[in-house]
Amino acid sequence: MRRASGGIIVWLTGLSGAGKSTLAAAVRDVLAQDHAVEVLDGDEIRAHLSRELGFSRQDRETNVRRIGFIARLLARHGVIVIAAAISPYASTRDEVRAIARAEGTEFVEVFVSAALSTLIDRDVKGLYRRALAGQVKHFTGISDPYEPPLGPEVTVCTDHESIQESTAKILKALADRRVAISVELTG
Ligand SMILES: Nc1ncnc2c1ncn2[C@@H]1O[C@H](COP(=O)(O)OP(=O)(O)OP(=O)(O)O)[C@@H](O)[C@H]1O
Ligand SMILES: [Mg+2]
Repeated sequence: MRRASGGIIVWLTGLSGAGKSTLAAAVRDVLAQDHAVEVLDGDEIRAHLSRELGFSRQDRETNVRRIGFIARLLARHGVIVIAAAISPYASTRDEVRAIARAEGTEFVEVFVSAALSTLIDRDVKGLYRRALAGQVKHFTGISDPYEPPLGPEVTVCTDHESIQESTAKILKALADRRVAISVELTG
């Protein structure tokens, strides 16, 4: 195994509206005070690097592999990378984890969990309403599969935790794994 760079990949997976982007930004804002941090957000990656991809299993896997590839490049140079993408297939997430670990990069999977009923109520992007009306094909959790992680390093339950509580859980898990990260776990 290569010498660890000090970089780390924090991989947030969960259904649309579960809170991946919200928590990625919150964790970044804390860590960015004294670390190099990048967020790879699924929406941004699809807008810039995966424009040609759709939502078939194959295209979703390609998208996740691309995010994993960039994440590894950055983490290799000591960056804390926070990936926030639905990434519905366990095997693809595990593949990214295995490659990262083989390169000496720590990989922390965070399951951002919330009941479907909560997500339908939130409907941050108005997509659940359309998916339930049958207007969106391949919508994860409604008309496309989501495979929850079996052994995530962290699980946050955003239907009954505040953003601050979920953020603190993630920061704590990072602090436990990486001596270099010393963060204020308050607020
Ligand atoms: N504990 C929590 N953690 C994160 N978000 C929370 C929490 N509690 C409530 N929320 C709310 O849930 C919503 C999460 O939306 P967000 O856009 O972050 O989801 P997402 O997982 O990135 O979805 P998508 O996959 O569609 O991009 C926000 O409106 C946020 O304020
Ligand atoms: Mg998002």
